[in-house]
Amino acid sequence: MTPIPPPEDETLRHHSFDGIQEFDKRLPNWWLMTLYGAILFWVGYWAYFQWFHVGLDGPQAVTREMTKIEAARLAAAPTTDNASLWKMSRNPVIVEAGRTTFNTLCASCHTEKLTGAIGPNLVDHLWIHGGTPTEIYATLEKGVLAKGMPAWVPVIGAKKSAEAVAYILSFHQEGEPIEVQAAWIPQAPK
Ligand code: HEC
Repeated sequence: MTPIPPPEDETLRHHSFDGIQEFDKRLPNWWLMTLYGAILFWVGYWAYFQWFHVGLDGPQAVTREMTKIEAARLAAAPTTDNASLWKMSRNPVIVEAGRTTFNTLCASCHTEKLTGAIGPNLVDHLWIHGGTPTEIYATLEKGVLAKGMPAWVPVIGAKKSAEAVAYILSFHQEGEPIEVQAAWIPQAPK
């Protein structure tokens, strides 16, 4: 079989494999566009997930969704026993809701850092009315009217109260020591 001679405008590359030769042709545009597109896509993709961490990877996305579902479930039926309140205090969505409530309603007396001003410090191990979750919730339920602590549960409802308690508990560890004191004496700032 006689080899087909190349057309006038086509140059043949020098190499030859088992007598097979190639034209020296430009890659087609669609092919080049796919390549450049893939390079651009890579930069965007990597920046989104790895450099700026905007996108969540699979396990992170699942955790976030589970946290939201758990928050919705706990908020729909707020139970105020010790175990539930501890559980709420470890759920970032609930703690965030509690932080909003706390900073709006409680921080004026307890400060945004919870370290106390008119009302006592809520992040140390000393408590006047008890520091277990149910005791803290009970304080919100009854208030300490004589001392200027309003009863919050009747005002803001069980859900918001439980969230505020969860926020306070997020500064504490289950099983940490709790000491009871008669009254809180504001300390001069160190
Ligand atoms: C008007 C001021 C004021 C506001 C607002 C306020 N508190 Fe208090 N709170 C107090 C005072 C005063 C006490 C101390 C009561 C006592 O001496 O027995 C107290 C006590 C407490 C205690 C008991 C602390 C302990 O040592 O036993 C908790 C818990 C608490 N507050 C939570 C909250 C939360 C949550 C909010 C917001 C929903 C809030 N407080 C809003 C004034 C306030």
